[in-house]
Amino acid sequence: MKFFVDTADIDAIKELNDTGMVDGVTTNPSLILKSGRDILEVTKEICDIVDGPVSAEVTATEADEMIAEGRKLAKIASNIAVKVPLTWAGLKACKVLSDEGQMVNVTLCFSANQAILAAKAGATFISPFIGRLDDINLDGMELIADIRTIYDNYGFDTEILAASIRTVNHVTDSARIGADVITAPPGVLKKLADHPLTDKGLESFLADWAKTGQKIL
Ligand code: G3P
Repeated sequence: MKFFVDTADIDAIKELNDTGMVDGVTTNPSLILKSGRDILEVTKEICDIVDGPVSAEVTATEADEMIAEGRKLAKIASNIAVKVPLTWAGLKACKVLSDEGQMVNVTLCFSANQAILAAKAGATFISPFIGRLDDINLDGMELIADIRTIYDNYGFDTEILAASIRTVNHVTDSARIGADVITAPPGVLKKLADHPLTDKGLESFLADWAKTGQKIL
């Protein structure tokens, strides 16, 4: 399972990347706004840090302009995945860009039918938004499971990139279902290591170690 970090915060990306846990990065216009940085500059900086796919999102709404923006974003680095929204214009842009050999991430996916369209358009990644479905009392995980079943039924090689991950349980559930990738904010990824019994056990080992009076170094 691949872990992407969902942020344009350079310090957070560097910190997690140093642990070897970052297989890629996803950004979107809201995350670029949050960073306060220029999209081309910050995306280039991210691509210099992380070897894996770095999603950069187009902001046009018509296919031709999306394609032009996608080609410009793709010039930032060879590991750019151009992110397009799941609209007919986005699907058209996905088809053109993926036919050119460009990685494409189709985002804002909220239904299995949308995911089928993205796969048929040649998407490298489909991004179903789990948290936003849960927000309106639907079941984000059910969508991930449906897409997994459908993609496996037909041998689609589009990778399921579970997005809008809000909790550590979303990560576990995505892994159980077989999502190929999860993208999560740095805070959620960091929480994956937390367990109170780990903290308690370490505290007691350190207390006993101090009593031995020994040192390893
Ligand atoms: O990866 C998509 C993500 O940025 C959306 O997350 O929490 O804004 O729904 P959220």
